[in-house]
Amino acid sequence: MEKVALITERLVLRAPTDADAAAIEAACQDPAIPRWTTVPSPYARKDADDFVRLVDEWWASGVETVWAIFAEDRLVGMIGLHDIARHHAGGHAEIGFWAGREARGRGYMTEAARAVVDWGFSELRLARIAWRAVAGNVPSARTARALGFRYEGLQRQALTSPRGRDDGWFAGLLPDDDRSPVDWPVL
Ligand SMILES: CC(C)(COP(=O)(O)OP(=O)(O)OC[C@H]1O[C@@H](n2cnc3c(N)ncnc32)[C@H](O)[C@@H]1OP(=O)(O)O)[C@@H](O)C(=O)NCCC(=O)NCCS
Repeated sequence: MEKVALITERLVLRAPTDADAAAIEAACQDPAIPRWTTVPSPYARKDADDFVRLVDEWWASGVETVWAIFAEDRLVGMIGLHDIARHHAGGHAEIGFWAGREARGRGYMTEAARAVVDWGFSELRLARIAWRAVAGNVPSARTARALGFRYEGLQRQALTSPRGRDDGWFAGLLPDDDRSPVDWPVL
Protein backbone atom coordinates (compact mmCIF):
# COMPACT_ATOMS: atom_id res chain seq x y z
CA MET A 1 0.00 0.00 0.00
CA GLU A 2 1.21 3.55 -0.73
CA LYS A 3 1.74 5.69 2.35
CA VAL A 4 -0.96 8.30 2.83
CA ALA A 5 -0.84 11.51 4.86
CA LEU A 6 -3.94 12.80 6.63
CA ILE A 7 -4.54 16.45 7.48
CA THR A 8 -6.93 17.68 10.16
CA GLU A 9 -7.69 21.13 11.51
CA ARG A 10 -4.67 21.19 13.85
CA LEU A 11 -2.68 18.09 12.92
CA VAL A 12 -0.66 16.43 10.22
CA LEU A 13 -0.51 12.63 10.23
CA ARG A 14 2.23 10.99 8.18
CA ALA A 15 4.33 7.85 8.40
CA PRO A 16 7.33 8.36 10.70
CA THR A 17 10.79 8.55 9.13
CA ASP A 18 14.34 8.14 10.44
CA ALA A 19 14.33 11.86 11.22
CA ASP A 20 11.55 11.24 13.79
CA ALA A 21 13.36 8.49 15.70
CA ALA A 22 14.84 10.81 18.34
CA ALA A 23 11.41 12.32 19.10
CA ILE A 24 9.85 8.86 19.30
CA GLU A 25 12.59 7.69 21.67
CA ALA A 26 12.07 10.76 23.86
CA ALA A 27 8.28 10.36 24.01
CA CYS A 28 8.49 6.66 24.86
CA GLN A 29 10.48 7.39 28.03
CA ASP A 30 7.16 8.30 29.71
CA PRO A 31 6.19 5.27 31.83
CA ALA A 32 2.50 5.67 30.91
CA ILE A 33 3.26 4.46 27.38
CA PRO A 34 4.71 1.02 28.26
CA ARG A 35 2.22 0.82 31.14
CA TRP A 36 -0.74 0.79 28.74
CA THR A 37 0.68 -0.34 25.39
CA THR A 38 2.95 -3.07 24.02
CA VAL A 39 5.83 -0.59 23.52
CA PRO A 40 9.05 -2.01 25.02
CA SER A 41 10.53 -0.68 28.26
CA PRO A 42 13.27 0.46 28.67
CA TYR A 43 12.96 2.17 25.27
CA ALA A 44 16.23 2.87 23.43
CA ARG A 45 17.10 4.67 20.21
CA LYS A 46 17.40 1.28 18.49
CA ASP A 47 13.75 0.54 19.35
CA ALA A 48 12.70 3.74 17.58
CA ASP A 49 14.93 3.00 14.57
CA ASP A 50 13.55 -0.54 14.34
CA PHE A 51 9.99 0.76 14.68
CA VAL A 52 10.40 3.23 11.80
CA ARG A 53 11.76 0.47 9.59
CA LEU A 54 8.90 -1.86 10.55
CA VAL A 55 6.34 0.84 9.79
CA ASP A 56 7.75 1.00 6.24
CA GLU A 57 7.32 -2.76 5.89
CA TRP A 58 3.81 -2.67 7.36
CA TRP A 59 2.68 0.01 4.92
CA ALA A 60 4.24 -1.88 2.02
CA SER A 61 2.49 -5.14 2.95
CA GLY A 62 -0.74 -3.38 3.90
CA VAL A 63 -1.00 -5.16 7.23
CA GLU A 64 -0.72 -2.00 9.36
CA THR A 65 -0.94 1.70 8.57
CA VAL A 66 0.91 3.83 11.11
CA TRP A 67 1.11 7.60 11.29
CA ALA A 68 3.16 9.94 13.45
CA ILE A 69 1.00 12.86 14.60
CA PHE A 70 2.39 16.40 14.32
CA ALA A 71 1.08 19.62 15.81
CA GLU A 72 2.96 22.72 14.70
CA ASP A 73 5.67 20.45 13.28
CA ARG A 74 6.26 18.74 16.65
CA LEU A 75 5.71 15.02 17.01
CA VAL A 76 2.88 14.68 19.54
CA GLY A 77 1.91 11.03 19.17
CA MET A 78 1.51 7.89 17.12
CA ILE A 79 -1.59 6.19 15.76
CA GLY A 80 -2.24 3.19 13.60
CA LEU A 81 -4.64 0.66 12.20
CA HIS A 82 -3.25 -2.75 13.10
CA ASP A 83 -3.93 -6.29 11.98
CA ILE A 84 -5.72 -5.11 8.88
CA ALA A 85 -7.61 -8.04 7.41
CA ARG A 86 -9.30 -7.97 4.03
CA HIS A 87 -12.52 -9.83 3.46
CA HIS A 88 -15.01 -9.82 0.60
CA ALA A 89 -17.64 -8.69 3.07
CA GLY A 90 -15.44 -5.76 4.17
CA GLY A 91 -12.28 -5.91 6.20
CA HIS A 92 -11.49 -5.18 9.82
CA ALA A 93 -8.65 -3.63 11.78
CA GLU A 94 -7.79 -2.47 15.27
CA ILE A 95 -6.96 1.09 16.22
CA GLY A 96 -4.05 1.86 18.57
CA PHE A 97 -2.43 5.11 19.70
CA TRP A 98 -0.30 7.00 22.19
CA ALA A 99 0.21 10.70 22.77
CA GLY A 100 3.33 12.31 24.20
CA ARG A 101 2.90 13.35 27.82
CA GLU A 102 2.98 17.13 27.19
CA ALA A 103 0.50 16.84 24.33
CA ARG A 104 -2.28 15.07 26.26
CA GLY A 105 -5.64 16.48 27.20
CA ARG A 106 -5.93 18.88 24.23
CA GLY A 107 -8.17 16.72 22.10
CA TYR A 108 -5.33 15.80 19.76
CA MET A 109 -5.92 12.05 19.90
CA THR A 110 -9.65 12.36 19.36
CA GLU A 111 -8.96 14.59 16.35
CA ALA A 112 -6.29 12.28 14.91
CA ALA A 113 -8.30 9.12 15.52
CA ARG A 114 -11.40 10.58 13.88
CA ALA A 115 -9.37 11.12 10.67
CA VAL A 116 -7.93 7.59 10.87
CA VAL A 117 -11.34 6.02 11.44
CA ASP A 118 -12.86 7.97 8.53
CA TRP A 119 -9.97 6.92 6.29
CA GLY A 120 -10.29 3.27 7.33
CA PHE A 121 -13.98 3.18 6.54
CA SER A 122 -13.78 5.13 3.27
CA GLU A 123 -10.44 4.03 1.78
CA LEU A 124 -9.98 0.53 3.21
CA ARG A 125 -13.74 -0.10 3.21
CA LEU A 126 -13.49 -1.63 6.68
CA ALA A 127 -16.66 -3.17 8.04
CA ARG A 128 -15.44 -2.89 11.64
CA ILE A 129 -12.75 -1.12 13.62
CA ALA A 130 -11.90 -2.64 16.99
CA TRP A 131 -10.41 -0.92 20.03
CA ARG A 132 -9.00 -2.67 23.06
CA ALA A 133 -7.13 -1.51 26.13
CA VAL A 134 -5.81 -2.83 29.38
CA ALA A 135 -8.78 -2.68 31.76
CA GLY A 136 -8.61 0.56 33.70
CA ASN A 137 -7.15 2.73 30.92
CA VAL A 138 -9.72 5.47 31.32
CA PRO A 139 -8.09 8.11 29.04
CA SER A 140 -7.94 5.62 26.16
CA ALA A 141 -11.49 4.44 26.78
CA ARG A 142 -12.72 8.04 26.85
CA THR A 143 -10.96 8.67 23.56
CA ALA A 144 -12.67 5.66 21.99
CA ARG A 145 -16.03 6.63 23.46
CA ALA A 146 -15.67 10.17 22.12
CA LEU A 147 -15.27 8.68 18.64
CA GLY A 148 -18.48 6.71 18.93
CA PHE A 149 -17.05 3.30 19.79
CA ARG A 150 -19.47 0.98 21.61
CA TYR A 151 -18.18 -0.87 24.66
CA GLU A 152 -18.42 -4.61 24.06
CA GLY A 153 -17.10 -6.07 27.27
CA LEU A 154 -14.23 -7.23 29.41
CA GLN A 155 -12.19 -10.32 28.61
CA ARG A 156 -10.20 -11.74 31.48
CA GLN A 157 -6.41 -11.98 30.92
CA ALA A 158 -7.00 -11.54 27.19
CA LEU A 159 -4.20 -9.05 26.51
CA THR A 160 -0.49 -9.74 26.42
CA SER A 161 2.43 -7.32 26.42
CA PRO A 162 6.12 -7.63 27.27
CA ARG A 163 4.98 -7.08 30.87
CA GLY A 164 2.62 -10.06 31.07
CA ARG A 165 -1.16 -10.57 30.81
CA ASP A 166 -4.00 -8.21 31.64
CA ASP A 167 -7.76 -8.11 31.59
CA GLY A 168 -8.92 -6.24 28.49
CA TRP A 169 -11.68 -3.77 27.71
CA PHE A 170 -13.06 -4.23 24.18
CA ALA A 171 -15.08 -1.92 21.94
CA GLY A 172 -15.97 -1.60 18.28
CA LEU A 173 -17.17 0.87 15.68
CA LEU A 174 -19.07 0.09 12.47
CA PRO A 175 -19.25 2.42 9.47
CA ASP A 176 -22.93 3.22 9.95
CA ASP A 177 -22.77 3.75 13.71
CA ASP A 178 -23.90 7.13 14.92
CA ARG A 179 -20.63 8.73 16.06
CA SER A 180 -22.23 10.51 18.99
CA PRO A 181 -20.72 9.19 22.22
CA VAL A 182 -22.83 6.59 24.00
CA ASP A 183 -22.62 5.49 27.65
CA TRP A 184 -19.93 3.00 28.58
CA PRO A 185 -20.72 1.00 31.72
CA VAL A 186 -17.09 1.11 32.89
CA LEU A 187 -16.72 4.90 32.60
C1 LIG B 1 -5.01 7.68 25.68
C2 LIG B 1 -4.30 8.92 25.15
C3 LIG B 1 -3.74 8.61 23.77
C4 LIG B 1 -5.31 10.07 25.02
O1 LIG B 1 -4.69 11.12 24.30
P1 LIG B 1 -5.15 12.66 24.46
O2 LIG B 1 -4.59 13.43 23.30
O3 LIG B 1 -4.88 13.13 25.82
O4 LIG B 1 -6.72 12.49 24.26
P2 LIG B 1 -7.76 13.68 24.06
O5 LIG B 1 -7.21 14.98 24.59
O6 LIG B 1 -8.24 13.62 22.64
O7 LIG B 1 -8.93 13.22 25.04
C5 LIG B 1 -9.70 12.08 24.77
C6 LIG B 1 -10.61 11.77 25.94
O8 LIG B 1 -9.83 11.30 27.04
C7 LIG B 1 -10.09 12.10 28.18
N1 LIG B 1 -8.84 12.19 28.94
C8 LIG B 1 -7.64 12.64 28.50
N2 LIG B 1 -6.75 12.52 29.51
C9 LIG B 1 -7.40 12.01 30.57
C10 LIG B 1 -7.02 11.65 31.90
N3 LIG B 1 -5.76 11.78 32.32
N4 LIG B 1 -7.95 11.12 32.72
C11 LIG B 1 -9.21 10.94 32.29
N5 LIG B 1 -9.64 11.26 31.05
C12 LIG B 1 -8.73 11.80 30.21
C13 LIG B 1 -10.54 13.43 27.63
O9 LIG B 1 -11.30 14.16 28.55
C14 LIG B 1 -11.37 12.97 26.43
O10 LIG B 1 -12.61 12.44 26.85
P3 LIG B 1 -13.97 13.27 26.73
O11 LIG B 1 -14.11 13.61 25.27
O12 LIG B 1 -14.97 12.31 27.24
O13 LIG B 1 -13.77 14.49 27.61
C15 LIG B 1 -3.15 9.36 26.09
O14 LIG B 1 -3.66 9.53 27.39
C16 LIG B 1 -1.98 8.38 26.13
O15 LIG B 1 -1.13 8.41 25.26
N6 LIG B 1 -1.90 7.51 27.17
C17 LIG B 1 -0.79 6.59 27.31
C18 LIG B 1 -0.74 5.53 26.20
C19 LIG B 1 -2.08 4.83 26.05
O16 LIG B 1 -2.75 4.54 27.01
N7 LIG B 1 -2.45 4.52 24.78
C20 LIG B 1 -3.69 3.80 24.51
C21 LIG B 1 -3.49 2.33 24.69
S1 LIG B 1 -5.03 1.44 24.43
